[in-house]
Amino acid sequence: MSIFYNESTKTFNLTAGSSSYCMSVYPLGYLVTHHYGKKIPDTDFPHYEIYATRTASFNPSRNGGADCFTMDTTPLEYSSFGTGDYRRTAIRIRSSEGNTATDFRYSSHRIYAGKPQIPGLPSTYTNCDNEADTLEITMVDKVTGGELTLVYTVFKDINVITKSAHLKNCGEKTFIIEDICSAVINLSSPDFSMVNLYGKHNNERNFAFNHLSHNRQSIISRRGASGHEQNPFIALVRDGSTEESGDTYGFNFVYSGSYEMGCEVDYFDTTRVTVGFNPEQFEWILAPGEEFFTPETVLVYTDGGLGEMSRIFHRFYSNNLIRGRYKTEKRPLLINSWEAAYFDFDEEKLVSFAKEAKDLGIEMLVMDDGWFGHRDNDWSSLGDWFVYESKINLQSLVKRVHEIGLKFGIWYEPEMISRDSELYRAHPDWCLHVEGREHCECRHQYVLDMSRPEVVDNIFEQMCSVLSTCEIDYLKWDFNRNLTEVGSATLSAERHGELYHRFMLGTYDLMDRITKKYPNILLENCAGGGGRFDPGMLYYSPQIWTSDNTDPIERLAIQFGTSLCYPASSMDAHVSFCPRTGFDVKGDVALWGTFGYELDPTRLTAADKNLIKEQIADYHKYYELIRCGDLYRLISPWDGKRRVAWEIVSPDKKEALVTVVSTRYVTMERFFLRLRGLDPEKMYKNSANGKVNSGAFLMYSGINLTYLPCGDKQSYKVYFEEV
Ligand code: DGJ
Repeated sequence: MSIFYNESTKTFNLTAGSSSYCMSVYPLGYLVTHHYGKKIPDTDFPHYEIYATRTASFNPSRNGGADCFTMDTTPLEYSSFGTGDYRRTAIRIRSSEGNTATDFRYSSHRIYAGKPQIPGLPSTYTNCDNEADTLEITMVDKVTGGELTLVYTVFKDINVITKSAHLKNCGEKTFIIEDICSAVINLSSPDFSMVNLYGKHNNERNFAFNHLSHNRQSIISRRGASGHEQNPFIALVRDGSTEESGDTYGFNFVYSGSYEMGCEVDYFDTTRVTVGFNPEQFEWILAPGEEFFTPETVLVYTDGGLGEMSRIFHRFYSNNLIRGRYKTEKRPLLINSWEAAYFDFDEEKLVSFAKEAKDLGIEMLVMDDGWFGHRDNDWSSLGDWFVYESKINLQSLVKRVHEIGLKFGIWYEPEMISRDSELYRAHPDWCLHVEGREHCECRHQYVLDMSRPEVVDNIFEQMCSVLSTCEIDYLKWDFNRNLTEVGSATLSAERHGELYHRFMLGTYDLMDRITKKYPNILLENCAGGGGRFDPGMLYYSPQIWTSDNTDPIERLAIQFGTSLCYPASSMDAHVSFCPRTGFDVKGDVALWGTFGYELDPTRLTAADKNLIKEQIADYHKYYELIRCGDLYRLISPWDGKRRVAWEIVSPDKKEALVTVVSTRYVTMERFFLRLRGLDPEKMYKNSANGKVNSGAFLMYSGINLTYLPCGDKQSYKVYFEEV
């Protein structure tokens, strides 16, 4: 068991890999965090003395003043709003009388093998019950009758704990949940910097690193989507850490809608991390007997810096989040029609792409936007998921592409509706809207009201009528605007606070139905590139279009940022015609992710074709290494150097692939690159110069790249293999 409970001290010690999470039930029934960090064996903490030995003026206490336990100075594991904790609390409920004070106290717990799934929501999973244990702690608020269950799943062999909560109304009156966190984590010092991934469309997941101070630092989405602007991920890095050393905590929210995550350092120097819905856009009415489930948060701790934190996330998501056939099966190497043709294609053009692509060694043709309704531009037809017959005959196209020897993929944007569509003309009230208020347009489209079952059913049936009649191998699920005028024609007035979350539940339901009905279709998510690159989406689709920006120099920062917590296999990366670099850089950068092409193959020169064939040979050669290997960010774009470099080492340390790209003109400068993660005892052959050196030499002395990359060769790859 990875969860130990000491009955006499009422202490829990959760041991995940080499990390421990410890908490106790305080005599008054408060759940208090003692430790989260490196593994410790203890189950006896002098918590009573720690939290009850000082007078704390202006801080409300309990116990009739018999001791000095105060809620505001105690690292409460899941604290209630309105009863003495003035920090960001975990839960706020509005009672039927209108007040917001609650006081949840421990009532019971249970420990069992395995991990429960969360109804209606994506979550990580165990492959067998032996992999993890779960602790459920039940806390009760006597006045409202709220029964809160905190769920902790502890993975035995990897430093991962997941947290979520669910609340049942066991009282006699309806109440409103105004705020409910997925996870709260208390750390006993403020000596951290917070890392978050900010950005915008075409420039997602930049690296931000800011020291904590005595305030609240948070990231938020108000978009109804996780968004391009802030990924639902933060890390805390202890002062003095490096990329490969130091206490590092990573928190990732398994949710694709609006959220808020942040850290508050209080006047007692405790750092409290909270992860949950954006409370500005969340409310849920809970009638007696009803239950509400939060999404989950993934917690990673390591003393191995951001580098090891990322590798833990990568292993965990590859094994315990990504699902389905393509979790392990090799993904087809695709070419996508978007940057090749935009809306300007017909059956013959796509067939000509397929023929050229086949000659190059590409394995799948994806027909992007423009095949349905009467869609020739982005003003029309979303919601009309029937074939644009004067443009293509889908049955014939799919058959011809398959006969050429390629798989066939298709594009959808299921949650959207165009004003110029048959669906809108038939059901103008099916989009999110507020009666009498002008509708914001974004890419000339509106967002469907996914909280309505009849809307979800209609889109599902329309999708099935295509997916069940043609042999479709892949589906790209796009989402090209965020939510505004969030009103529903059918939801009652008092339930409108639930709409943002109901929208997500409807979307997840549709994804669930599609993936269950078509388990052989490879689903790829996309939201104008990386606007919903989050673990919620990864649960349904093993890969996500990382960004609409395919310029490889720009992609470096985007992919480095994405790699903080998402594995290479999830990061879709294509070679395109963008003019800034040669094909070598484009290929080397795209090789790091789920490799593919985004160009018109009929416009390639003979030289380009040869280069592409070499890239494809590299893609096959390094596929397993990149998919299963451990990533080392040797020089990151945010290090401010003239080059960036990354390395992928196979789990058995027999192989490594190192890639270096110059991002600025490199003048003469000494440049030794020290590798990481190799076995110091093993001997490795350098594919570029044939030299054999020990892993120790390669890591502690380094390879001399003083003259490389050079000239017009901006990118350089070296493969090391054990000899
Ligand atoms: C945005 C996506 O990111 C692109 O790849 C492409 O699919 C377009 N939408 C199509 O409208």
